[in-house]
Amino acid sequence: MRHLLDIESTSVEDILKILDTAEIFLKVLDQPSKKLPTLKGKTVLLMFLEPSTRTQISFEMAAKRLSADTVSFSPSRSSMQKGETLLDTLLNLQAMEIDAIVVRATSPGTPHFLAKHTKAKVINAGDGAHEHPTQALLDAFTVRKHLGRLEGLKILIVGDILHSRVARSNLFLWRKFNCEVYFSGPPTLVPKEFEKLGAKIVELDEYIDKVDVIMALRLQRERMEGSFISSQREYRMFWGITSERLRRIPESTLIMHPGPVNWGMEMDWEVNERRNTVILDQVRNGVAVRMSVLYHLLAREK
Ligand code: NCD
Repeated sequence: MRHLLDIESTSVEDILKILDTAEIFLKVLDQPSKKLPTLKGKTVLLMFLEPSTRTQISFEMAAKRLSADTVSFSPSRSSMQKGETLLDTLLNLQAMEIDAIVVRATSPGTPHFLAKHTKAKVINAGDGAHEHPTQALLDAFTVRKHLGRLEGLKILIVGDILHSRVARSNLFLWRKFNCEVYFSGPPTLVPKEFEKLGAKIVELDEYIDKVDVIMALRLQRERMEGSFISSQREYRMFWGITSERLRRIPESTLIMHPGPVNWGMEMDWEVNERRNTVILDQVRNGVAVRMSVLYHLLAREK
């Protein structure tokens, strides 16, 4: 694996390799001493050009647990404010011997652009509405841990599909494992074009009791210009995982959310009281999965 830019072009073999190694790292995270010497001497640059809590901290912890050094680049306090371009910034940072770059950006394709111009390994931590590969990998890891398999599942993704890189990466991943992927949400936010990529667009209430996994997504208001939903109340009523809907969802169905959650809109707080709600498990597993991605990109190079 040269980089991790998207799930679309990542092979099933590489996905399984990452998930299997992550199982080992998860066990390490359960130990009193959580640190391994594996990436000692390597430097990971965290380049977050868009806000992030989970993903940024998760990558930083993953690198540190493997003994890599981390350096953070924050655009608002950098020379990008003086007009330095992204390419020039990259070339200068690279001159300081960076081994990997974890990049989150507002523009789709930024990680691919960086990968063309650097010797470092590039990991996409979310590029606009395009992809968020490590989120889909940690989602798959979490599903496999709870349901014991990846093949042949029924996955329902509800919410703002249009602006969601999480939905896209998940769709590509689950289709590789012959799963049925259902999309549901306001028609303005669930484009018909996704059917060409293998998703089926469905009514939420017809499917909530027929699937193995329900994944709710955040309304990406920062990517919306104009009005996509009429009101928050209406959104909750039609597409929220409400207390009323919860009663129709089987105990065994996993309920997931990549975070951050708009509680009371995408889901009611009561969702947390269920045994098979795995939102914080996703966060926990994310560190192990990102350790595995760093390991496969950095520890195994010649
Ligand atoms: C997601 C993201 O930033 O793409 N969050 C995350 O990384 N866990 C989803 C979101 O912002 O809604």
